[in-house]
Amino acid sequence: MLEITGLKKSYGHKRVLKGIDLKVTQGETVVIMGPSGCGKSTLIRCINRLTEPDEGFISLRNQVITEMSLNELLKIRRKIGFVFQSFNLIRRLNVLDNVAMPLRLQGVDLETAKRRAEIALAKVGLTHKLEDLPDELSGGEQQRVGIARALALEPEIMLWDEPTASLDPILVGEVIEVMEDLVREGKTTMVIVTHELFFARRAADRIIFMDKGRIVETGRPEDVLEHPVSEIGRKYHNLLRR
Ligand SMILES: Nc1ncnc2c1ncn2[C@@H]1O[C@H](COP(=O)(O)OP(=O)(O)OP(=O)(O)O)[C@@H](O)[C@H]1O
Ligand SMILES: [Mg+2]
Repeated sequence: MLEITGLKKSYGHKRVLKGIDLKVTQGETVVIMGPSGCGKSTLIRCINRLTEPDEGFISLRNQVITEMSLNELLKIRRKIGFVFQSFNLIRRLNVLDNVAMPLRLQGVDLETAKRRAEIALAKVGLTHKLEDLPDELSGGEQQRVGIARALALEPEIMLWDEPTASLDPILVGEVIEVMEDLVREGKTTMVIVTHELFFARRAADRIIFMDKGRIVETGRPEDVLEHPVSEIGRKYHNLLRR
């Protein structure tokens, strides 16, 4: 489904990704973990070329993303849902319009866009907030709007970059719950960067540990969290033991 080979990225002299190889199969949930600054966001942003890679090959369903023109790229980005740490909602638009807008931009007619937005918002439990403005919502609710906005596009793959990182601990739970529902539904392939260890253990088909721009360990949660072979893996293992 998603195939990444030899992906490299530097900022000036700083080598951030030093050769990443990763394959994700249809319907799989892959969780990427690792210390701050190890290159997780850079990796996930390279997938849809929000960050431009220096070297390497990325393909989605056999379409080579790294060779696409801007036009082709804009088209394939419609099939890639992206949930950010900061929610990036449009403050003057209400919840329903925030979710419907990307569909409208893709040329979906108003009625269909609103219907798809409503379905997506129902999935994240926000049917009662359609008319609210983002500022009237809690952080957790705002992030659920962000999730619905990605879902409404009916993406083939969803990329998540620390979706709970800017939420207070009490609100993290509600977003995690929505994410777990989506994972359980199992329709969409997911690549999730998160520090939520318990979520990763419950929801991931596979966990990937990164360190200093490389993948240092990958495997099923029960394997890599119980019997880690990498230094980073052992650190997460110890966190679970506390
Ligand atoms: N646009 C940029 N220009 C220069 N350096 C950058 C840029 N984006 C990221 N970096 C650097 O690249 C390294 C990796 O950053 P990245 O955001 O990928 O890390 P991360 O693993 O997502 O960390 P965190 O867990 O803190 O989000 C960091 O040292 C960061 O400072
Ligand atoms: Mg990051």
